[in-house]
Amino acid sequence: MKRVKYISMMAAAVAMTAAAGSASALIDSAITNTKHNLSVGSTQNNRTTDGTTEICVFCHTPHGANISQAVPLWNRTMSDPTAFQTYADLGSATLDGSIAQVGSVSLACLSCHDGQIAMDSLLNAPGSGAGSVVGPGDRIGWTFSSAQGTMTTDGRLTAGIAAISQDLRDDHPVGILYAAGNVVGNETNRLAFTDTDFRVVNTTQINGATYWYVDSNPNNVRDRGDMILYSRTDVTAIGGGTIAGTQPYVECASCHDPHTTSSQDGSPNGTGEVDFLRMSNAGSALCLACHIK
Ligand code: HEC
Ligand code: HEC
Ligand code: HEC
Ligand code: HEC
Repeated sequence: MKRVKYISMMAAAVAMTAAAGSASALIDSAITNTKHNLSVGSTQNNRTTDGTTEICVFCHTPHGANISQAVPLWNRTMSDPTAFQTYADLGSATLDGSIAQVGSVSLACLSCHDGQIAMDSLLNAPGSGAGSVVGPGDRIGWTFSSAQGTMTTDGRLTAGIAAISQDLRDDHPVGILYAAGNVVGNETNRLAFTDTDFRVVNTTQINGATYWYVDSNPNNVRDRGDMILYSRTDVTAIGGGTIAGTQPYVECASCHDPHTTSSQDGSPNGTGEVDFLRMSNAGSALCLACHIK
């Protein structure tokens, strides 16, 4: 059952890639030149000095991936979802949407950004039988160097602004229901949403499942410049109760694409700063892609 769902997820990812290729001349991604290149030979501050020249392997593996969450070919161990403090714990009185347990692609991002798991906690190290770990505390054993001192030599991101930590009360909510719900079936009528201060959403059907996105570069195609919403089904909300059915959620990768360079994000600080944003936030355009404010 789980396996079937996982396969359709992968097909979704492939279809998404194809769509991006045809629809977006704007988007040019080169992960090599970003902080997500942790390989030997990377010119970034944080990298391994003796591990591997491969780039993708820090996140993906062609075989034997982690399928505990619907994240494509994930090569990493992930933290216990209950170990996090969420935005729900802040107690914001104006919040309308239910927050789900940390999961989906957010848990994958946090498998480096929570500062707990080492960069080399990989299910499948490069090379046949080259190494494999079981739990989040385990490592392959590579050495890491950090010019800015944000990463320990054993590869944990413990300092600096990118160290999101396990306390998510000070971060934009993730695992948050889009528009507080009532979106499914009312995609084009935002006045039917529970929280009407949100943009309408589009859907795409892949392998019999529905996926939602905000078509922020309007072309009726889901591509990497859109705000991607992530499906979760019958999740338990923080604080109790079930959020019934398959619903759209905002996760880390709704706003970020982990492969993107600054040529896309329009970063004001030039090539030095890469926020991996799906679109430029000049004029707060990214915020306004979802929020009506
Ligand atoms: C720092 C972690 C990280 C690295 C390194 C990384 N990826 Fe990804 N990748 C992700 C995450 C997270 C997702 C899911 C993102 C999403 O939902 O859009 C993803 C999704 C994908 C997808 C499917 C969605 C899409 O955007 O097309 C493909 C294909 C992919 N990665 C290929 C690669 C390749 C090839 C490399 C190496 C050149 C690579 N990735 C390196 C984290 C990474
Ligand atoms: C394999 C580990 C790993 C994964 C997985 C990962 N990151 Fe990162 N990320 C890093 C490292 C290391 C840095 C650089 C940190 C630094 O410079 O101190 C970084 C930097 C960033 C930055 C830029 C920070 C800055 O200082 O400008 C953003 C944004 C970011 N990551 C978002 C994400 C998101 C969103 C995901 C999931 C889609 C993700 N990352 C997954 C390791 C990872
Ligand atoms: C609603 C959109 C949104 C979501 C969801 C989101 N981010 Fe971000 N993130 C941003 C924006 C916008 C910036 C750029 C902030 C800036 O320029 O200071 C950013 C910046 C960052 C940075 C760079 C450090 C900083 O604060 O400038 C990191 C690292 C990061 N995000 C990781 C994550 C991770 C991990 C998640 C999920 C737990 C996440 N983001 C969820 C919008 C988002
Ligand atoms: C992908 C869609 C999306 C994007 C992009 C986005 N948000 Fe949100 N944001 C949400 C959702 C959904 C909520 C939950 C709202 C609720 O349930 O009341 C939320 C919540 C918030 C809240 C907390 C509201 C409360 O009542 O506690 C603030 C503040 C906020 N967003 C600001 C921003 C800013 C600033 C940006 C740009 C950096 C941004 N958002 C980008 C979807 C988004």
